[in-house]
Amino acid sequence: MIPCYICCDLPIFLVYRYKRNKVYQFLTAMFGQVAFAAPPEVYNEQRPILHSPFKHEKMVNYIKVMQFEIQQWLDSLGEQGEFELTAAMNSLVQNVAAHALMGKAFRDQMGREFWDLYLVLGASLDPLMPPNLPLPKFMRRDRAKEKLRTMLRPILTERHLHPENYDDFLQDFVNARYKDGRPMEDETIISLILALMFAGHETTSGQVSWTIIQLLQNPIYLALVKQELAECLPYGTPIDVRALGDLPHVAWAVDETTRMHPSADVLIRQAEEDIEVGDYRIPQGWVVFVTAGTAQRLPEWFAGPDGYDPLRFAPGREEDRQHRFAIIGFGGGVHKCAGMNFVNLYPFTSSPLRPGSRFLGIPAQRG
Ligand code: HEM
Repeated sequence: MIPCYICCDLPIFLVYRYKRNKVYQFLTAMFGQVAFAAPPEVYNEQRPILHSPFKHEKMVNYIKVMQFEIQQWLDSLGEQGEFELTAAMNSLVQNVAAHALMGKAFRDQMGREFWDLYLVLGASLDPLMPPNLPLPKFMRRDRAKEKLRTMLRPILTERHLHPENYDDFLQDFVNARYKDGRPMEDETIISLILALMFAGHETTSGQVSWTIIQLLQNPIYLALVKQELAECLPYGTPIDVRALGDLPHVAWAVDETTRMHPSADVLIRQAEEDIEVGDYRIPQGWVVFVTAGTAQRLPEWFAGPDGYDPLRFAPGREEDRQHRFAIIGFGGGVHKCAGMNFVNLYPFTSSPLRPGSRFLGIPAQRG
């Protein structure tokens, strides 16, 4: 039995003081020893390459991909009807991720098969059971993992032959070199891509869905967002990095949903030494679950923490600035989410809500 310790005061202290690769062995079983699931020496070597596709200048391209995919989805909606928001967002985010990480051809040709195998991987997630037990879900995981890797190998061969034809995450990894000049091995690149798809897609679709749901549930704040979009980003104007940087009400809505419904709600660490926090002692070796959902509702930092109030982030209040780790929905410290810039939830939130878009009235409440 793994001892677990949960307490609402802890997240502030534990975000980056403790190693985590040991407790993320269930991720190593899914992807191999890469990124956040690798031992520190491997992680340190890979980190510059892992973070390289997320540089600010790359955002320009990614925003174009997002806009293309979001518009294509909006255009497919027809004149009227209803749909299940989370399923629609999941599929939209998968299209964006496949397109941006692996290129448009991959998104068109392999996308569905790829994501179906991913569902099998996701269903095997289990932070407690030893990941090599002969359980049916772990056997299904291993079969799916092998199929995914087999799908990606010929794509890598093509990327080595014609690097000039591509400009996406995968090509960044193929072109990248370690500090000593070695290229990254193909199997490591495959593991990285699989890990990134995992880190990025359900988290993003969950958070986008919650952001839109909370806006629809709060018509007064929604009116402020719509007014801002009508003035700064009217329907038909292109959504680019500059325009997105100037939408404070949208930004606060995104922040408030990150606070109230963080989609990565648990970070796992292992205490490497005994530590005392307040009245509690965490013995060395214990596994610690850091719960963002609890930490971000602490009344010490957030007024009326269970209420939806995006203006808590506005100048004059800025409740999130009172403590470096008041908001940990994207982690903190050295392992803070690499994809934060890429995620950029603003296009997902702004595009459908712009006056003139055919999206989203609020459905009548059903009994
Ligand atoms: C709303 C969407 C997302 C949320 C809420 C989120 C949340 C997080 C959190 C909490 C961590 C830290 C985990 C820990 O310390 O144990 C993290 C790390 C990471 N995320 Fe995200 N993430 C999101 C989207 C993405 C996307 C789209 C990508 C890439 C395409 C991505 C790539 C990563 C990577 C590579 C790390 C590990 C960074 C490192 O260890 O150096 N994330 N994310």
